[in-house]
Amino acid sequence: MTTDRPVRVLMVCLGNICRSPTAEAVMVGLLEEEGLADRVEVASAGTGSWHVGNPPDERSAAAALRRGISLRGAAQQVRDADFADYDLLVAMDASNHADLLRLAGDDELRGKVVLLRALDPDAVAAGDTDVPDPYYGGPNGFDTVLDVVESGCRGLLAELRARGLV
Ligand code: 4NP
Repeated sequence: MTTDRPVRVLMVCLGNICRSPTAEAVMVGLLEEEGLADRVEVASAGTGSWHVGNPPDERSAAAALRRGISLRGAAQQVRDADFADYDLLVAMDASNHADLLRLAGDDELRGKVVLLRALDPDAVAAGDTDVPDPYYGGPNGFDTVLDVVESGCRGLLAELRARGLV
């Protein structure tokens, strides 16, 4: 089944300044490569409110730019209405995943909540399904985020196809 309106995907982390804006931009690039840019809208949000209105973290933006990827947007917090408005809410780590499942009102809405790297068979095989939070770590953490998010987004695209959303 395909829908008339674009499918909507919300990438979710804690602060919405590092991991989820990175995942948003990487997914947009992958969709462009796959000719699906007009079929899927991607946005991002955080479960926390500390950085609402702020641009992406400059360390995340710099790491992404080194790979030719531009981060966009201003941080926003996940809202109750997002569970109805989006087709999939994609958590970056187990903590975000648990928070989203708690915020979702019912089983149907909980069914829209996925963990990004749980969709990446290599990450599942390695037993390592979190996108690690780079905020308080060293500079390499931002490149690690890009590496794991690039694989995770391929898994997410496969999931969109498996759900008949694209
Ligand atoms: P993000 O990283 O969840 O990937 O955006 C963080 C950003 C800010 C904070 C924690 C994580 N913070 O504690 O302010």
